[in-house]
Amino acid sequence: MFTKEVYTERRNKLRNEMNSGVALFLGNNEASFNYPANQYHFRQDSNFLYFFGLDHPDLAGVVDIDNNKDYIFGNDVDIDDIIWMGPQPLIKDRAVEVGIENTAPYAGLLDFLNNAIKEGRKVHFLPPYRGEHTIEFQKLLGLFTDKVADYVSEELIKSVVKLRSIKDKYEIEEIEKAVDIAYEMHTTSIRMAKPGIIEREIAGTIEGISLAKGGPVSFPVILTINGQTLHNHYHGNILTEGRLMITDAGAETTSHYASDITRTVPVGGKFNQRQKEIYEIVLEANMKAIETIKPGIEYRKIHLLSCKIIAEGLKKLGIMKGDINEAVKQGAHAMFMPHGLGHMMGLDVHDMEGLGENNVGYDEKTKRSKQFGTAFLRLGRELQTGFVLTVEPGIYFIPELIDLWKSERKYTEFINYDKVETYKDFGGIRIEDDILVTEDGHRVLGKPIPKTVEEVEATAAMK
Ligand code: GLY
Ligand code: MN
Ligand code: MN
Repeated sequence: MFTKEVYTERRNKLRNEMNSGVALFLGNNEASFNYPANQYHFRQDSNFLYFFGLDHPDLAGVVDIDNNKDYIFGNDVDIDDIIWMGPQPLIKDRAVEVGIENTAPYAGLLDFLNNAIKEGRKVHFLPPYRGEHTIEFQKLLGLFTDKVADYVSEELIKSVVKLRSIKDKYEIEEIEKAVDIAYEMHTTSIRMAKPGIIEREIAGTIEGISLAKGGPVSFPVILTINGQTLHNHYHGNILTEGRLMITDAGAETTSHYASDITRTVPVGGKFNQRQKEIYEIVLEANMKAIETIKPGIEYRKIHLLSCKIIAEGLKKLGIMKGDINEAVKQGAHAMFMPHGLGHMMGLDVHDMEGLGENNVGYDEKTKRSKQFGTAFLRLGRELQTGFVLTVEPGIYFIPELIDLWKSERKYTEFINYDKVETYKDFGGIRIEDDILVTEDGHRVLGKPIPKTVEEVEATAAMK
């Protein structure tokens, strides 16, 4: 948690962004997995955390835009709770820690909102992503559950995105801590990638590192010798010589800031010639993209630059052919890189994605592409100082996509299908780093994680 001034300033900035009404933020509740009392690790809602800082279930926060007042609604624990959970600070004492004087039991929220509505004031709220919140909006605001989505506040979404997109120095410090935990996770993963080991042994070990050094992982660990499947959460394969292993994993700090790093290592620690050739292309796409990052440049331009580097590299290997500018313009490269170059990162690993990808990654000036591949770019708009984002190019040989496009004779001008056939057993390579946009360019966050062929091989050779 930051100081109360940080949260007070954030709420004041929100008030300045908004015209009128009240902004309602529901904190998360506990969520059960296989029976009511067996619950997932509690994760507070990121918007609630950003404005109210309190990391406990069953709270709601209100920013009164017209009256310069902020509120926390929540119940103090009773003796039954204390027996199981231990003593807990009173809600009013917790609220003071984040600069809020006005508190009331949770039941008071309904009256508060009813009064606001009676006065003709708008209640702004963000899109819910848990069923409990949809039901709560129904109860609090008298909306049908299937209509709740129609009443989310565009004005509040835009204001929150504007504020959360620019990370302050406290947030950047936290994100760097998360990347430093990822350093431990990824160097461990590289060292463990030996023939005979099962993926889950490594996945479990690195998840343990995250838990031991911060919070849980920032998203379910992707660790696989089948890296051609982009978000592969199956961890049951035995590592075999000749395969590559992708680890895409990050940590959350205790204050819930994320990291998101990908490294790819050859099983056994030595790249063969074919692996090295593809790896060097992805590495160049990653490094040139990073070099280009500065305020004022559209991220989609950097995405397309990295796609061109990938297509050029594949042309040199005889996998692609023809006019590379035209190939990328038409989308042929997406056979090998069918995802975007990156996304915002912060309290959420895909920061603010719950507020709508287009609201976060696009604007009036930069509209989302509809073309396969580029359409999946989550962040396309102009970069600003203070953005934190990922750079994560990859090259994948997806047998099912190869077969489909080949059967459709798609992009035969740009793809050498005979050569591609020989790579169907290759897998995939992705290299991902977390970058801060600075006034004069960019900074790669955290302790540098081995990434050149030499660095990865040297790390793999360590005990
Ligand atoms: N963690 C998935 C991704 O890299 O976006
Ligand atoms: Mn990732
Ligand atoms: Mn990512």
